[in-house]
Amino acid sequence: MNEFVSVVRGVGAYLPEKVLTNDDLGRMVDTNDAWITERTGIKKRHIAADGETTSDMAAEASRRALAAAGLTAADIDLIVVATATPDFTFPATATVVQNKLGITRGAAFDIQAVCSGFVYAIATADNFLVRGQFERALVIGAETFSRILDWSDRGTCVLFGDGAGAIVLERQEKSAAKDRGVKSVHLRSDGRYKDLLWVDGGPSSTQTVGHLRMTGNQVFKHAVSKISESVRAATEMAGIAVSEVDWFVPHQANQRILTAVADKLGLDDHKVVSTVAEHGNTSAASVPLALSVAIADGRVKTGDLVLIEAIGGGFAWGAALIRM
Ligand code: UT7
Repeated sequence: MNEFVSVVRGVGAYLPEKVLTNDDLGRMVDTNDAWITERTGIKKRHIAADGETTSDMAAEASRRALAAAGLTAADIDLIVVATATPDFTFPATATVVQNKLGITRGAAFDIQAVCSGFVYAIATADNFLVRGQFERALVIGAETFSRILDWSDRGTCVLFGDGAGAIVLERQEKSAAKDRGVKSVHLRSDGRYKDLLWVDGGPSSTQTVGHLRMTGNQVFKHAVSKISESVRAATEMAGIAVSEVDWFVPHQANQRILTAVADKLGLDDHKVVSTVAEHGNTSAASVPLALSVAIADGRVKTGDLVLIEAIGGGFAWGAALIRM
């Protein structure tokens, strides 16, 4: 039997045109650039235009990932969209994206693991590809958190932004992949923490979409320890030392979390890819968005060992090691 591995063929991203700065927010709620910068590192975030949906952004990021891979939509037989802000309660945003890309074969479905959704989506697609069930997957993180924010709550509305990122994962025979591919994925969740980060609405509870609610300082403490544990588990699973990692591409929630985790793991600052200043927290989109930036500016290259991680509502969290 063939032994397969999932290899990254291309990465693409999309950010909406509209930019909201900290000064803009200072005119909306009782906040200021100094507080937001000092506590989070965020300077600005992108906001979807009226009528621009999660699937619009996901489809555009996918087109760019396909172009980077030198492939077309016809080459894709699996679409996994990680999102907590779907276009509709149903159908899955993934099927809307599938239709926008003109794909009529294979399967498409959504993953709901909030900010850690992209790590969960990688794990899911990887399992299908490695089992030989599909050949090429679009793994997408896409969010319009601007639509679920309480714009009068300064504790949350300053933190998030919109955007999408996508990667093309391809099944390759292990013997031919030259050590490239997904090396390990570690996933965790613990529903006891629901009330620390959640949305107070939903189809079966309130029949409304609801707004994001967060006890930020408590989430912060959990984030640093849980991410570090997950990274250790993923590296152990792969038999790779943290020191061998070339690039750390974390979930972009807060610069202080990124720095604290990197310090805890003993990762050099120059290995940390941070886009939190420019994008804010884009939930499931943050890791592929950051990865695309680091590829575009020449930092992340084929053969590099990349460590990704994320934590969010649930809590759900995880980490993965990928040789690009
Ligand atoms: O992606 C999912 C994972 N999410 C996260 O990882 C988020 C984790 N949490 C965080 O990033 C941080 O906890 C925050 C950035 C949300 C908050 O930073 P903090 O240092 O934990 O501040 P805090 O919540 O303890 O609040 C400190 C003070 C409070 O005032 P008092 O009670 O000390 O008078 C807040 O009311 O800062 C106040 N505050 C603000 N002030 C100005 C809260 N939000 C703002 C604001 N502007 N936007």
